[in-house]
Amino acid sequence: MDIASRPSEPVENPETADAAPPPHAPTVIRREDYRPPEWLVPETALDFSLGAGETTVRSMLKVARNPDGSGDKTIRLNGDGIEARSVSVDGKPGNGWRMDGPDLLIDLDGDEHEIAIETVLKPAQNSQLMGLYASNGMLCTQCEAQGFRRITFFPDRPDVLSSFTVRMEGPKDAFPVLLSNGNCVKEGEDGGTHWAEWHDPWPKPSYLFALVAGELVSNHDTFTTMSGRKVDLNIWVRPGDEDRTGHAMESLKASMKWDEETFGREYDLDLFNIVAVSDFNMGAMENKGLNIFNTRYVLADPETATDADYDAIEGVIGHEYFHNWSGNRVTCRDWFQLSLKEGFTVLRDQLFSADMGSEAVKRIEDVRILRSAQYPEDSGPLAHPIRPDSYEEISNFYTATVYNKGAEVIRMMRTMAGPERFREGTDLYFERHDGEAATCEDFVKAIEDGAGLDLGQFRLWYSQAGTPQVKAKLLHENGFATVRLEQTVPVTPGQPEKQPMPIPLKLALFERETGKHKGEALVVLDKESADFSFKGHERRPVLSINRGFSAPVAVEIDTTSEDLVFLAAKDDDAFARYEAMQSLVVRHLISAIGGGLGERERDLERDAVSQAIESALFDEDLDDLMRGELMILPAEAYLAEQMLVADPGAIHAEREGLRAWLGEELQEDFEDLHDRVSEVPYGRDAASRGARKLKTQALLYLAAGAPEEAAERAARQYALADNMTDRQGALMVLCGLDVPERDKALADFRKRYEGNALVLDKWFALQAGSLHPDVLEHVRELAGHPDFTLGNPNRVRSLYMAFAMNPAAFHAESGEGYRMIADLILKLDPINSQTAARFVPPLGRWRRIEPVRSDLMRGELERIAATPHLSRDVREQVTKSLG
Ligand code: ARG
Ligand code: ZN
Repeated sequence: MDIASRPSEPVENPETADAAPPPHAPTVIRREDYRPPEWLVPETALDFSLGAGETTVRSMLKVARNPDGSGDKTIRLNGDGIEARSVSVDGKPGNGWRMDGPDLLIDLDGDEHEIAIETVLKPAQNSQLMGLYASNGMLCTQCEAQGFRRITFFPDRPDVLSSFTVRMEGPKDAFPVLLSNGNCVKEGEDGGTHWAEWHDPWPKPSYLFALVAGELVSNHDTFTTMSGRKVDLNIWVRPGDEDRTGHAMESLKASMKWDEETFGREYDLDLFNIVAVSDFNMGAMENKGLNIFNTRYVLADPETATDADYDAIEGVIGHEYFHNWSGNRVTCRDWFQLSLKEGFTVLRDQLFSADMGSEAVKRIEDVRILRSAQYPEDSGPLAHPIRPDSYEEISNFYTATVYNKGAEVIRMMRTMAGPERFREGTDLYFERHDGEAATCEDFVKAIEDGAGLDLGQFRLWYSQAGTPQVKAKLLHENGFATVRLEQTVPVTPGQPEKQPMPIPLKLALFERETGKHKGEALVVLDKESADFSFKGHERRPVLSINRGFSAPVAVEIDTTSEDLVFLAAKDDDAFARYEAMQSLVVRHLISAIGGGLGERERDLERDAVSQAIESALFDEDLDDLMRGELMILPAEAYLAEQMLVADPGAIHAEREGLRAWLGEELQEDFEDLHDRVSEVPYGRDAASRGARKLKTQALLYLAAGAPEEAAERAARQYALADNMTDRQGALMVLCGLDVPERDKALADFRKRYEGNALVLDKWFALQAGSLHPDVLEHVRELAGHPDFTLGNPNRVRSLYMAFAMNPAAFHAESGEGYRMIADLILKLDPINSQTAARFVPPLGRWRRIEPVRSDLMRGELERIAATPHLSRDVREQVTKSLG
């Protein structure tokens, strides 16, 4: 498609732009204010003249009045930090346009017009990494949520779907590979310049647009879909990285097959491209036919990637691929509906990973993430429902609540319907809304109709924030076992009153003598309180509840430690077994931290914990991956959640104290275990992965109990390692110790992986996240290291997020940790505001922290708030955290 002719001279803006709002007045966007767009854009043609220093973009939009609009003759084209060099309407250089703040408005008299606009971008100067930017010599884009408006003026909202044709030209030596969405339809060259034209047959919103140009090589493969179509697959990386793309490719093919088998979804283009870039704000992006990934979710080999890295790659490759249906074919009407695609897609990637590996272990890992990342969000100043009602900066809503709690909410529907009926619901959803921009309500309705569920009251899960608290009690009388349940939904910002929610809980009643139960029941607690009775229990059974973590709630169960020990050893639901073990430890630590235990009581409780761990160590029915899960102590963030006001120092001391005690008490067991699993050769199979998991778990306990001996053992593990899991595990343990082996290993690690950015990230993160008493000092030094830069989000996170998530260091009594993070936020904000804003929530916890630290945290937030020219991202998070 040709770009309408344009004047060579910039057109003067005839009217002065309306005064932009003063920089500090927040603009709140509300869900209830949604209106359909006045104008649609059936076709979009973009023409890029590429250069890292300067790129010219000529756009031609065919616009048409929306019959569902109000008839407003003004079209609003969003912009952000860009200027129009020229604007023409229907081929005539227009002067009927004006700016409204960053947006460009044009009055249009007819029903259909062609608008041509030219903008000029400076990709190499784009440090925000939104829109078009340069990374490692290549050019790439990130448009979700509102990056497209940094490229050209456009109705940059997800309910405007357009058919895109993209032409790009540039120097062949700098940009030998030119990619965009859909298929390449034409290409050619002219001297040192070459060009390509891409067409995407599927209309899409602007946030799914992508362009990549650079020196790239691909790992090519093919996949034949269920209807027999052959699809070309490419994973594009920098030359030299291609040998580390095998796992990503296997994951992609497995995802494509799995989505056909599990959800009946087939891929819909002849080409699927993935590009790995090293500067990226998030994990990855599902642009139609051209996914763009953070290198850390693509590149792996045993020497440089851990087992956890392998799992994350499989999960993220699956996630972005699954978006092709849950996100692209059916997209979101507006950004309040973000969980429509993200919650659903996270559930899909969780189910995929469960099918690829161990379902039980995957469930435990997912719950651990929910509890340590989402629960604190839900109980803090930034709590919001999975479908928020308002926002200032949408980037701040790519949260654990929208993603992970969103997935849990859809999982509950699946649990209540059963997998087959749930599938009928999702089939109906895709059929009804294919090609549309839908809402969460559309999804719920489709599941309701397709699966035959009544989700009337269930919709509260979309509108109410806060983690429901459930109290469970078992009563026993005349052969009846009665489970008495009570729920409360905590108050959250802007939501002083809550209604009871429907909470599906799977439960089982175990006979003490046989260690068996008569079958699992699913009860739905949909009132403030209810009793559920079961007959045929001559003796008092043991209650196992929220099996499989059937609801994302906090269950407080009135039971004895003896019963928990029983379940920790006998429960046939792997999650419930893990949960019993966790509860035992949580319960003990909470009372010990509160100072409510005498010396003797503490020893007795520690004995119970030690027995439970010992029985997990020796249980022959457990596989090692699961055994490893049972050995992991509850996170400090999760322990803090159990208290109204937490003392991070006391939590850390008590938890590490328990670990040291166990390390001494069970020293021989851990040593034998470490010896046993050290014999298992490297492989990608579950047994071998389980062995590696246990190796480092055992070292952690030994290091706490007998540091010197453990240092030797860890140094040996480091030296003998033939894979990154063992090497990183050993180095992590050494990093926490004040021993000579520490510096030696750190120096070796650095030298061994010279030039590998992802491994260097590990080197930073291990030091910033360590148990070493001098972490603050180390981080300060590392910030001045020649390899440290605020320009690369992976590097920033590797140093500072690892630090902010390191409780002992971040919560140093002096307040230095808080100051360090506040300083970082202020320094990073002008460079990359999205990444800067991600560091605010750790400081935002001040209300739930003991008074001395609390004041220091609030003080830092106030210092940030008082700084002029904050980004909208940071300002929203800081204001809400103080509010
Ligand atoms: N949709 C992407 C995903 O798969 C995330 C993109 C987020 N981008 C952003 N700028 N916040 O989850
Ligand atoms: Zn996603």
